[in-house]
Amino acid sequence: MVATLTLTRPDDWHLHLRDGAAMAAVLPASARQFARAVVMPNLRPPVTTAAQAIAYRERIRAARPAGSSFEPLMTLYLTDDTPPDEIGRARQAGVVALKLYPAGATTNSDAGVTDLRKTRATLEAMQREGLPLLVHGEVSDPDVDLFDREAVFIDRHLIPLRRDFPGLKIVFEHITTREGVQYVQGAGALTAATVTPQHLLYNRNALFTGGLQPHLYCLPVLKAEVHRQALVVAATSGSPKFFLGTDSAPHAVHLKEHAGGHAGCYTALCALELYARVFDAAGALDQLEGFASFHGADFYGLPRNRGTVTLRRERWSVPETVPFGEATLKPLCGGETLDWRLVAD
Ligand code: DOR
Ligand code: ZN
Repeated sequence: MVATLTLTRPDDWHLHLRDGAAMAAVLPASARQFARAVVMPNLRPPVTTAAQAIAYRERIRAARPAGSSFEPLMTLYLTDDTPPDEIGRARQAGVVALKLYPAGATTNSDAGVTDLRKTRATLEAMQREGLPLLVHGEVSDPDVDLFDREAVFIDRHLIPLRRDFPGLKIVFEHITTREGVQYVQGAGALTAATVTPQHLLYNRNALFTGGLQPHLYCLPVLKAEVHRQALVVAATSGSPKFFLGTDSAPHAVHLKEHAGGHAGCYTALCALELYARVFDAAGALDQLEGFASFHGADFYGLPRNRGTVTLRRERWSVPETVPFGEATLKPLCGGETLDWRLVAD
């Protein structure tokens, strides 16, 4: 049995870092594991301009632990009104992508896109500049069953988008369904997907087992077991179209354990260990490095990292909670025992 696993230092291609004291609380965990992370722009107010992204990047850099060279890769929040000119400025500023939130689909999506046709000129500019579009792939139509919203998004929006913008790089973020996997596999080389730990580890039964489990509630919501299995096969397949994106979305415990509890799982605390659990269970530890460290960088056209991280086969307990400014946070698998542990540098 393999006892240690050394990987090229990985990146997190989908991370919510928040801001202020919340960011200061969660940033060290990501910086310990990852060289870079694509930082989501759904702050209040959202990060919609290159100038705001530069300022947010400076706040993140200033909050890094001493000596950390963790690099935030910034994104802009696409709105109905994002001017095409902003794309050139974003490129210049080092912004790596724009995020599409269909209005009403998830946390802080009120300023999101109401109709993709309104963003046409901006998407053309992105295609020209080579800036990827990161997609929260769910319709927000209340007539569509919550569990079908990803599959319906593919038919209604993703297929037409791909047809209209054949040269646009698209990342289908946090895919949750077999339909999502099949779509990405069948699309060309300019379409890829991120996969979260929670969608690889749990199916929707887990939300309702032993009482309602608010800490497993995220959007897109967990799906049935057939979908989880399709995600595991895709993530561990070695296909360069699938890569690591934790979608770590911290919300204080009191806002999760709450009527109208907030959506989001805090996965960043031991993200790499959680992915190792999945790949180990699938007998595919040899595929973890590609998924965690190569496929994302290659898709974005960024250099692969130089350093390494090492995981050791060692049983350890994930803390039940960790501090989060004035509040606390419950990490995914908090209080449980994991079999892989990241070795300190
Ligand atoms: O569960 C989620 N939480 N899904 C999202 O799309 C947003 C995220 C957040 O920012 O909390
Ligand atoms: Zn997210």
